[in-house]
Amino acid sequence: MYEQKKTNTNTASSSETDVIALIDAMMQKKLRQDHAGDVDADGKPHMPRDAHPKSHGLVRAEFIVEANLPAAYRVGVFSEARTFPAWIRYSNGAPEPAPDKKNDVRGMAIKLMGVPGEKVLTDEKNALTQDFLLCNHPVFFIRNVADYAAFLSAASGGNPLPFFIGLRPLRFRFHEAKVLIQALLKKIASPLAIRYWSQTPYRLGGSAVKYSVRPSAGYELSPRIVSAVPTTDANYLRRRMAAELAEDDVCLDFMVQLQGSAMPVEDPTILWDERSAPFRKVATIRIHRQDFDLPEIDRKAEDMSFTPWHTLPEHEPLGGINRTRRVVYESISRLRHTVNGVPRQEPAE
Ligand code: HEM
Repeated sequence: MYEQKKTNTNTASSSETDVIALIDAMMQKKLRQDHAGDVDADGKPHMPRDAHPKSHGLVRAEFIVEANLPAAYRVGVFSEARTFPAWIRYSNGAPEPAPDKKNDVRGMAIKLMGVPGEKVLTDEKNALTQDFLLCNHPVFFIRNVADYAAFLSAASGGNPLPFFIGLRPLRFRFHEAKVLIQALLKKIASPLAIRYWSQTPYRLGGSAVKYSVRPSAGYELSPRIVSAVPTTDANYLRRRMAAELAEDDVCLDFMVQLQGSAMPVEDPTILWDERSAPFRKVATIRIHRQDFDLPEIDRKAEDMSFTPWHTLPEHEPLGGINRTRRVVYESISRLRHTVNGVPRQEPAE
């Protein structure tokens, strides 16, 4: 499998490296332009994340790996039945925080703790964390590194439309526009009540895989909470999550999809069809009843860094969009931690 690129050649070409450097520079410049002088409630410098700055909450969880998985799945953190403590940060994707009712993509960032083994990032090779990043749509809206640069360049003028429909009709990007619109139009009841996908692929031993998370059977959102917290509340997603977790635990299924035929690694806009490549549950995420809606937890969420590259080599991110993320997540995280005067380190607990 792995047509287009073999997993063992998941390194950027020199031209791709140049484009990724350009993307990184554009993103850093934009973040400085928009937020260099921002301060928090105490008047201290506060530079937010470039993407997904609005957090609905950071919650503690347990990641319980299933026993007796088939051999193809028994790799890295899934290699044996065990339980990892975890943090999960739920977010809105838009670069500027807005009322939750506004169309947006929603993020779920999982950080497993106490994961042994050398990690991929040289500077953080001794970290004990393994991250998984997901959004609430199965596919990403940009195919490759060059297109990401073109999108950023159009968006920097304030209007990304020319990226989708420019001067040359033969190069209209209708497919990408459709993916973005479908992702943005989803109405959600609660961050805990919806399905998420990794969108981009990852290595799993000799295979390429994608991940997905969905509520476990029997953990549906109560209609009582929906009616108690109306969507007119600007932060209704946080309020509903807080109400759910004040009452009971929530369980989610963490699932893996093995790559099938005609399922590209290098183009995350193409859906890996579940009918021919079904997802298989490999772990349960249990979010215990808790109060996360506290200033100190929000501070911790702000200071954390999630990246798909916080990983064991067995789960290495694949494809050009992920290779871009290797550079960008680290540099944006470094920038905001430096401006905020906060040490950048993986949490110990
Ligand atoms: C080239 C493509 C992408 C770029 C350049 C990009 C960039 C970023 C950046 C700069 C951050 C903030 C990092 C920080 O300051 O700590 C971020 C956060 C995030 N991104 Fe991406 N992203 C890309 C693609 C994706 C894709 C395909 C997904 C799908 C799962 C995704 C999901 C997320 C999530 C969930 C967060 C929030 C993480 C958190 O809670 O801290 N991104 N992204």
